[in-house]
Amino acid sequence: MCGIIGYIGGGDAVKTVYGGLKRLEYRGYDSAGAAFLTDGKIRVYKKQGRVEKLYPLLDGVRSRIGIGHTRWATHGVPSDTNAHPHRAGGIAVVHNGIIENYAALKAELISDGAKFVSDTDSEVIAHLLLKNYNGDLTEALFKTVKLLKGSYALMAICEYEEKIAVARYKSPLILGYGNGENFCASDEPALYGLSEKITVLEDGDLAEITAKSVKIFDKNFKRAERETEPNLAVSASLGLDGCPHYMLKELRETPLSVEATARAFKGVKDKLVSALSGVKRFVFTGCGTAYHAALCGKRYIESFARIPAECETAGEFRYKNPVLGEDTAVIAVSQSGETADTVEAAGLARSLGAKVVAITNSHRSQLTRLADVVVPVAAGPEICVAATKSYTGQIAALYLLAAAVAGEKFYNDCAEKISKTPALISATLESLDMRSLAHICASSSGVYFLGRDLDYAVALEGSLKLKEISYVPGEGYPAGELKHGTLALIDVNTTSVVIITDKVLAEKSENAIEQVLSRGGKVAVITNVNGVRERFSDLPTVVLPECDKYLSPLLAAVAVQLLAYKAAAVLGREIDKPRNLAKSVTVE
Ligand code: AGP
Repeated sequence: MCGIIGYIGGGDAVKTVYGGLKRLEYRGYDSAGAAFLTDGKIRVYKKQGRVEKLYPLLDGVRSRIGIGHTRWATHGVPSDTNAHPHRAGGIAVVHNGIIENYAALKAELISDGAKFVSDTDSEVIAHLLLKNYNGDLTEALFKTVKLLKGSYALMAICEYEEKIAVARYKSPLILGYGNGENFCASDEPALYGLSEKITVLEDGDLAEITAKSVKIFDKNFKRAERETEPNLAVSASLGLDGCPHYMLKELRETPLSVEATARAFKGVKDKLVSALSGVKRFVFTGCGTAYHAALCGKRYIESFARIPAECETAGEFRYKNPVLGEDTAVIAVSQSGETADTVEAAGLARSLGAKVVAITNSHRSQLTRLADVVVPVAAGPEICVAATKSYTGQIAALYLLAAAVAGEKFYNDCAEKISKTPALISATLESLDMRSLAHICASSSGVYFLGRDLDYAVALEGSLKLKEISYVPGEGYPAGELKHGTLALIDVNTTSVVIITDKVLAEKSENAIEQVLSRGGKVAVITNVNGVRERFSDLPTVVLPECDKYLSPLLAAVAVQLLAYKAAAVLGREIDKPRNLAKSVTVE
């Protein structure tokens, strides 16, 4: 995690670094900092909290060389001291990643006389750079990274040379090119409006950047050529369009996300079907919300194509020594395409001979580079940490993937059905009034989301969303499992939100409602099944439009997302940037 940016050239390094950090803030916002070379001296400015806290410190600072960092804490609490950059002597460094062997390195450096001030793993890099420095910062960085275990994207500057030295391994890093100026950053949006051409560095690469030149080196420190590509980022600082939060704005963009994803799918369908022909088993994987979308994918492929499928969180999958071969397809789902566990899971699958399909909203990422086929999610930039329109876009892509595998006629029917769904989602968004249910949830000691089959997948997402942005505890649970344990938690202070969109299973889920009511728990129902609303007319009920059962998750999803949003608003939470989280989780 963390976002980093560097600038060198004839322009204003302070403005560029600060602006880049604002665009990178989705990667972490525990603290922010920057180091600039001014009059031959390195000066470091850092502050706990949001990037904007850094702004007053930079008043009057002038420089043409600088590096910056916005942090998601891994080692050491969020504080001014633990904020990056870290420095040793005349060298400053910013780091995104985790140094797994930092404790041993730190002990050795201390025994050599180094003085540490922070609790971070990253500070060892500054001291190693100083120790290895012999007149060439890039060479010192090469010697330093040889000693590191873990993941890193690094940028270093020093008082002795006008250059930025960078290196990457398992954390993203790109270079950008300007006229008499050059850039480096964690991702393309950070260089939006600054650099039209970029280079994505490969694992093990280093680079030496001056105002006039960029030299790239491979892991053996041999000069390397890397492709230069257009910067595809669109303005990530998009406005709020009159909404109080990005989450609400992005939630309202759900119909567009589904529509654009279905349109984009047509462009990859043939390639996908040919890559997946002969596949006898599917494994779906992802983390968090993407994992919840993956659960729908598993269900779709089993139902539509009758091919066995599994679904596992990427963090579990990558360490279980999975049984994979050429007849298996691994479908890796990720909004960012940069989630460390998902990228590693996909890499492992590829190394074991499986076909890898990426379902992602980021069309140039670590995940897309690994995949045999990329199925685009066309949700557009998602700024709020809580995923909304990307989740529904992922479900749409997975629905069409499974339909395409099931055959041409089946696909055509499904394409027709999904083309009508954006209008249903719009109708859902317009009709939903979550105010009173949001107040009930906000004042509950626990909120349990219950459902069966696809409704269970949405229940998991509803619970995650509510926890993530409102901090109200709870669980997503299969309605049938309630009586096997979680029922013990139900009392008058709890609320259970029961999702029922499957006519066949409706009665079964209704049993769960009765069980909760008879223990004094509060219940709300989200449904589009005739009869359910009538039966529980005295309960708070959210009615969704009628819809094909396989597409109902798209409607139920916006309902639970809106509920979470409203409950978080009732509690006055900082909705777009919930505590302890970051948009892109690039560490383990
Ligand atoms: C979503 O609301 C969460 N912030 C989180 O679970 C997220 O979905 C997860 O970290 C995976 O991210 P990815 O889709 O970018 O891989």
